[in-house]
Amino acid sequence: MVESNPNEIVIVKSEHSKINSVDFNNLIFGRVFTDHMFVCDFEDGKWQTPKIMPYQPMTIEPSARVFHYGQAVFEGMKAYKDENGSIFLFRPDQNFKRINKSAARLAIPEFPENYFFEGLETLLKMESDWIKPGLGNSLYIRPFVIATEPAISASPAATYRFMIICSPAKAYYNKPVRVLFAEKFSRSADGGVGFAKAAGNYAAQFYPTGLAQKKGFDQIIWTDASTHKYLEEAGTMNIFFRVGDKLITAPTSDRILDGVTRKSVIQLAEDLGIECEVRPVSVLEIKEAAKDGSLKEIFGAGTAAVISAVSAFEHADDVFEIPQLENSYASLFKKTLTHIQHNLSEDKHGWRHEVK
Ligand code: COI
Repeated sequence: MVESNPNEIVIVKSEHSKINSVDFNNLIFGRVFTDHMFVCDFEDGKWQTPKIMPYQPMTIEPSARVFHYGQAVFEGMKAYKDENGSIFLFRPDQNFKRINKSAARLAIPEFPENYFFEGLETLLKMESDWIKPGLGNSLYIRPFVIATEPAISASPAATYRFMIICSPAKAYYNKPVRVLFAEKFSRSADGGVGFAKAAGNYAAQFYPTGLAQKKGFDQIIWTDASTHKYLEEAGTMNIFFRVGDKLITAPTSDRILDGVTRKSVIQLAEDLGIECEVRPVSVLEIKEAAKDGSLKEIFGAGTAAVISAVSAFEHADDVFEIPQLENSYASLFKKTLTHIQHNLSEDKHGWRHEVK
């Protein structure tokens, strides 16, 4: 872990808040940003003094490596507020570890832990009014790192910018999603960067997802690149299958994102006495289960998506509609998880992190 002496964060406050122009009841995911952003540059071989400044456009040379080689990684986190006005993060240690794991894979220097937490917490306290209490409300937090060095030779940059921007958010999906099981395109391969939150992993999904959308589907569930026989993860979330009363989800690997919501669901399943198998899930077994009626649910789990039910899937021109259950596992996990996140229930695993 990189250690750095904590420098004072330089703070420049915005003169006017935009908050009164925001309709918090009609938010579209990721469109509105709070008043401030956190910025820290890597230059001369070290991370420089961090700054919090008004959210604003920035100037980057057209030759910056991020534009040419996609040397960029990001994270997705959320802050929640309880009815007493206290602010909570959910398992932020996991996001911190994962951004540095992603960074290492993309040859980006690790970000120091003390800068990450001091920067994040100072920013959240400044943006407290943007975090609305109540289930369903949150502040989505997007830490990211980009290669800023103006140089187009294909090699790692010497300079980077680490930033945190924040956006008030409600649910990413406001209705159950229809998904397509991938038959041709792949999201990731063995030895690749599928496990990392590399910006390019998401860009590479846009074209096939666009084709799926033209067929009336919202998302793709990616299958393994070599055989397309095993279900891995969806574009914006990890994925769980309920067959009978049992949950099944794919194991993480260098192709699959080690989702924080995914691992929390696996733990909550154990707490709730629900059997959860972590093993390769074949397309065939899910189609068979859909045919014989034992497939009860499919749902996704992710920071932005929270728990999102799947209402239909398609594979090889076979379409299966999944009737939505009243007492679904998806709604049970969503309730259990969001109650912990919003400080409405006991946090027996110590997942909540209060921002003081
Ligand atoms: C998240 O859930 O935080 C993600 O990064 C997924 C993103 C596509 C919205």
